[in-house]
Order: sequence, then structure tokens, then C-alpha cells
Amino acid sequence: MASIHKALVVFFAVAAALLRGGHAHGEDHAASVHDVTEYGAAPSNRDNRDAFLAAWRAACGSTAGNSTLVFPKGTFAVGAVQFEGPCANGDAPAVVIYGVLQPPCAGGGGCHLSDDAWITFSGLNNLLVTGNGTLDGQGHRSGKSKSKTTTLVFEDVTNSTLRGLAFVNSRGFHVNLRRCTRVVAEGLGIHAPAASRNTDGVHVGHSRHVRILDSVIGTGDDCVSVGPGSVDVVVSGVTCGPGHGLSVGSLGKDEGEQDVRGLVIRNCTVKGTTNGVRIKTWPGSPRSRASNITFEDIAMANVTNPIIIDQRYCPHNRCSDADKVTPPQAATRTNVPSRIA
Ligand SMILES: *[C@@H]1O[C@H](CO)[C@@H](O)[C@H](O)[C@H]1NC(C)=O
Ligand SMILES: *[C@@H]1O[C@H](CO)[C@@H](O)[C@H](O)[C@H]1NC(C)=O
Ligand SMILES: *[C@@H]1O[C@H](CO)[C@@H](O)[C@H](O)[C@H]1NC(C)=O
Ligand SMILES: *[C@@H]1O[C@H](CO)[C@@H](O)[C@H](O)[C@H]1NC(C)=O
Ligand SMILES: *[C@@H]1O[C@H](CO)[C@@H](O)[C@H](O)[C@H]1NC(C)=O
Ligand SMILES: *[C@@H]1O[C@H](CO)[C@@H](O)[C@H](O)[C@H]1NC(C)=O
Repeated sequence: MASIHKALVVFFAVAAALLRGGHAHGEDHAASVHDVTEYGAAPSNRDNRDAFLAAWRAACGSTAGNSTLVFPKGTFAVGAVQFEGPCANGDAPAVVIYGVLQPPCAGGGGCHLSDDAWITFSGLNNLLVTGNGTLDGQGHRSGKSKSKTTTLVFEDVTNSTLRGLAFVNSRGFHVNLRRCTRVVAEGLGIHAPAASRNTDGVHVGHSRHVRILDSVIGTGDDCVSVGPGSVDVVVSGVTCGPGHGLSVGSLGKDEGEQDVRGLVIRNCTVKGTTNGVRIKTWPGSPRSRASNITFEDIAMANVTNPIIIDQRYCPHNRCSDADKVTPPQAATRTNVPSRIA
């Protein structure tokens, strides 16, 4: 796994260098590279939020086109921050992260983040977030605050790519794609301790035409989880473990949830996890439908439940109606993996 990760990092270092080269050769493109340190950001334990937002406003507000927001090498602290669109010319800048971003943990107390998101990109089209940098949630230092903060959220983002970054020790989900259309997440390395709760690798919800490709994910929860309202999602070339495997759900927690339709999970490897491929619904859940789901060409080793459809999903046994079973409409067609090793 280490060698795959290293190979990916090298690959994306080259890709990022090419991206920068492309800008350098264009006419007057140097002017549209916005390095956060030019806006007052500095590698330190001080919250760099205001400087990051100033650099974002410049990059997103640029009408020159093809602008790039750069986070250089160094470890930068930042509290919860939201990079919002729309941008001046309709397309988001490219965001290249070479450094390490961390919540401002030094000086006590500052480590608390809300239960929602740490870094959010919202309302954007044609966004590229890439680089060989790391988003480090410092989950192991969140102490008594116990917030389940998602490290990176894409919300209302279209035609976009998340590529090559490393994610470590999130406090909650590492990546959450919500209300997105046509988003590719690829070449990610995601790592958190096996004992860390709710640290899903990539979660997809209320999103269409999503591709999660060629990534290595080991956490304390689901490797990839596909929630309500997901349509046309492909997961391929993903290596999972440790954690809870590749999951659809959990579904049926709330009334009126949107269906899950058209999910393909193929060419993945799952090692040292509690589950392989799973569909999970809460007991006695209101009706919703999960259909046209294909699991294909999944290699598994040291997996407790390789294939599991759990209609009484009830983590930590907090359900009052745990005996009720969701009617079988919950899963209408499940193709069994063709290869299980
Ligand atoms: C990321 O890439 C830059 C140059 O593109 C390189 O200087 C740096 O060492 C790389 N960082 C890591 C963590 O590989
Ligand atoms: C942005 O870059 C692309 C590809 O390099 C180029 O085709 C396009 O014309 C550029 N757009 C602007 C506004 O410079
Ligand atoms: C996103 O891409 C699709 C297909 O290429 C295109 O039809 C659509 O207009 C794009 N959306 C935006 C907001 O540019
Ligand atoms: C399967 O996934 C691996 C990464 O685990 C990738 O290198 C390979 O190209 C993929 N093969 C196909 C046929 O997609
Ligand atoms: C099933 O899902 C796949 C992948 O999204 C899609 O290409 C296909 O058209 C769907 N089939 C039906 C019958 O909906
Ligand atoms: C199997 O996976 C568990 C984690 O689920 C791990 O602790 C154990 O070392 C693994 N065993 C082998 C033989 O790989």
C-alpha cells in the first residue's frame, strides 16, 4: 500500500508541475497565479483564514480566466473556511496545495471545529483541487470536543475534479460530495486510525455522475459510502482497509429520502475490514429504493463480512425499533462479485 501511495504522490507531483508549467507559458498567465503567502498567509499556528479568503477572492474574482490559487510548501493552520462561488468568469480557479493544512490546534482550545465542515468549496463549476499536499484534520488531537467535522466538502459543485491530495486523521468524514454533478475524485490517499469513529473516506450524497477512482483509503469507518440521492456513481481502482468497507447507506434514517440508483463498484481491493461490500438500512425505515447496483471484480482478504445486506443497521444499538425489518424493496438487484479472493 505504501508503494502505491508513493507512486500516486510522484504522479501528482509531476501533474502539478505540468499544470504550473502550463500557466507559465501562457500569455500573461503569471498574473493569475495567486499564492496565499502573497495575501498574508504564513506557515504558523495562527489561523490563516482571512489571508486564504483574500487570495480566494482574488483568484475567483479574476476575469483573466485560468487563475490558480496556490498553497505552497509549509504547514498552515486554518479554522473552518468556505471558498464560495460563483466566480467572475463562471469557472472556478484551479487550487493547488503543496503544503499541509491543519486546524489551529496550538495554544489550547483552538482545536474545536463545528460538526459540519472544515474546508468547503461551494457553488462552483469547473473546479480542480489538486497537488501533493495534505489535509490533516488532527483528529487525534480533538480531545474532549468530539466534533465530527468533515475535512473537505464539495457542495453544489459541477464538472469538477479532486485529484492527488493526501488526507489524514479527519475528525469526521474525510471527503463529502454533496449536491454535486459530474465530479471525479481520483488518486487520493486517505488514512486514519482503525479505531477512529465516523471517519469515512469519501461520502457521496444527493449527487449525480460521480467517479471515485484509483485511491487508497484506510480509516476507522466506511472506505466509500454512498448515501441517499446518489445517481450514477462509479467506484473503481480503490484499495480499502482498515475500516468498514464499501457501503451503500446508511439508508432510511429519515422520512422522504431520495433513492439510490445506478451504482457500480468494480476493480477494487478490500483488505482487513469488517465488511467488503455492504448495503445498510436502518430498522423500520421509511421506504426508499436502492436499485441497479453492481459489485464486480472485487478482491477481498481478511474481511469479516465480504457481502452483507444489513436491514437492521443500528450502530451502538440506539434504535427503539431494532426488531423491525425494512421491506425487501430496499434492495432490488444486487449483482454478486465475480471474484472474491
Ligand atoms: C510536492 O511537490 C513539490 C514540487 O512540485 C516538491 O517540492 C515537494 O517536495 C513535494 N512534496 C511532497 C510531500 O512530496
Ligand atoms: C484557459 O486554458 C485553456 C487550456 O490551456 C485554453 O484553451 C483557454 O483558452 C484558456 N482560457 C483563458 C480565458 O485564458
Ligand atoms: C458541465 O458539463 C456538461 C457536460 O460537459 C455541460 O453540458 C454543462 O453545461 C456543464 N455545466 C456547467 C455549469 O458549465
Ligand atoms: C484496477 O485498479 C488498479 C488500481 O487498484 C488500476 O491500476 C488498474 O488500472 C485498474 N484496472 C482496470 C481494468 O480498471
Ligand atoms: C444502471 O446504472 C448504470 C451506471 O450508472 C447506468 O449506465 C445504466 O444505464 C443503469 N441501468 C438502468 C436500467 O437504469
Ligand atoms: C486482519 O484485519 C484486522 C483488522 O480488521 C487486523 O487487525 C489483522 O492484523 C489482519 N490480519 C491479517 C492476517 O492480515
